[in-house]
Amino acid sequence: MKRRILITGGAGFIGSHVVRLFVSKYPDYQIVNLDALTYAGNLENLLDVKDLPNYVFEKGDITDEAFIDQLFGKYQFDGVIHLAAESHVDRSIMDPLAFIKTNVLGTAVLLNTARKYWKDNVENKLFYHVSTDEVYGSLGEEGFFHETTAYDPRSPYSASKASSDHFVMAYYHTYHLPAIISNCSNNYGSHHFPEKLIPLAIHNIKNNKPVPVYGKGENVRDWLYVNDHARAIDTIFHKGRIGETYNIGGFNEWKNIDLIQLLCRIMDKKLGRPEGTSAQLITFVKDRAGHDLRYAIDATKLNKELGWEPSLQFEEGLEKTVDWYLSNEEWLQHVTSGNYQKYYQEQY
Ligand code: NAD
Ligand code: DAU
Repeated sequence: MKRRILITGGAGFIGSHVVRLFVSKYPDYQIVNLDALTYAGNLENLLDVKDLPNYVFEKGDITDEAFIDQLFGKYQFDGVIHLAAESHVDRSIMDPLAFIKTNVLGTAVLLNTARKYWKDNVENKLFYHVSTDEVYGSLGEEGFFHETTAYDPRSPYSASKASSDHFVMAYYHTYHLPAIISNCSNNYGSHHFPEKLIPLAIHNIKNNKPVPVYGKGENVRDWLYVNDHARAIDTIFHKGRIGETYNIGGFNEWKNIDLIQLLCRIMDKKLGRPEGTSAQLITFVKDRAGHDLRYAIDATKLNKELGWEPSLQFEEGLEKTVDWYLSNEEWLQHVTSGNYQKYYQEQY
């Protein structure tokens, strides 16, 4: 079936991988990438697909009601994959209102517009909302987040994502808007903006700068290769059940300090430095305010119902990621010039 799909936030980290997968795997679909090109959006992430005939880029803001209405009128979408968001927890601590605006209001504008255009016929329509495991709050030493775990967001970022999830389900229940949500753990891979732990550490190690580890480095995250997240989104978009939530994760928990030690060993090997050189850059800094201790996702439902599983072991994925950053120096230079320096000074 020919489909017309709106992907929001397609110039960002995960969005660019989702766009790349969809335009290459589904030549019959028309893929419209809507992105405001904030500091995190970068069309250089999509140079390899930008000229494909089934791909269109539209610059615009998801909070702009008139623009979103006009876009739905122009393309008559039958599917939305919504990734556009403010995504960095530390920035949400600095400026919570920007997160409320984009993540809550922006999602509501998209839902409302889809409702308007789909109200007479919801057949084969789908609003797919991409969300995070952070909505579930923080775990102790044991246990997992399940789809039934009560929401307990604790940062402005996770509160804004939790709110957007609630609006998606409210539109499903109240207006029968066909919707699905997925909640994923920490992604890593190529094109990741170097404000997040892994790309920031790679960038700093390469440049012999301190690698900041918050608190004692004891917080735990579950890491998933970004291409595996994109594959999961593809699976859920095509096979998921309307009205359901699916958790996505790597069954791959790491304490931050252990992850950084592993990354340092990989960087020593790749840069031809004596073992132990990069680890000397590790610097413990002030902890993140309200820092969630541990996230761990149970992705059994997605595996059992839809057959998805991660394709890569963590060390292999991390090596591929390091290789990408080391051979894409120009990309890193572009994204770390200008406003990045100002952010870095304020944050560290
Ligand atoms: P990102 O910050 O790399 O990209 C976000 C994209 O959204 C950027 O291209 C940006 O320009 C665009 N954008 C921001 N505000 C916009 C607006 N008002 N209108 C239109 N476009 C706008 O984020 P990411 O890490 O790729 O995350 C994508 C989505 O996945 C987010 O919804 C995030 O909550 C979710 N998620 C991320 C992770 C992760 O580990 N990165 C894990 C689970 C879920
Ligand atoms: O769990 C999914 C979430 O993962 C996504 O929803 C978010 O969009 C994404 O940014 C990510 O959030 P985290 O806060 O977990 O990712 P971040 O890379 O910022 O931090 C990972 C861990 O490393 C966290 O415990 C904080 C710590 N950290 C982070 C930075 C940037 C450091 O110790 N030092 C740092 O400099």
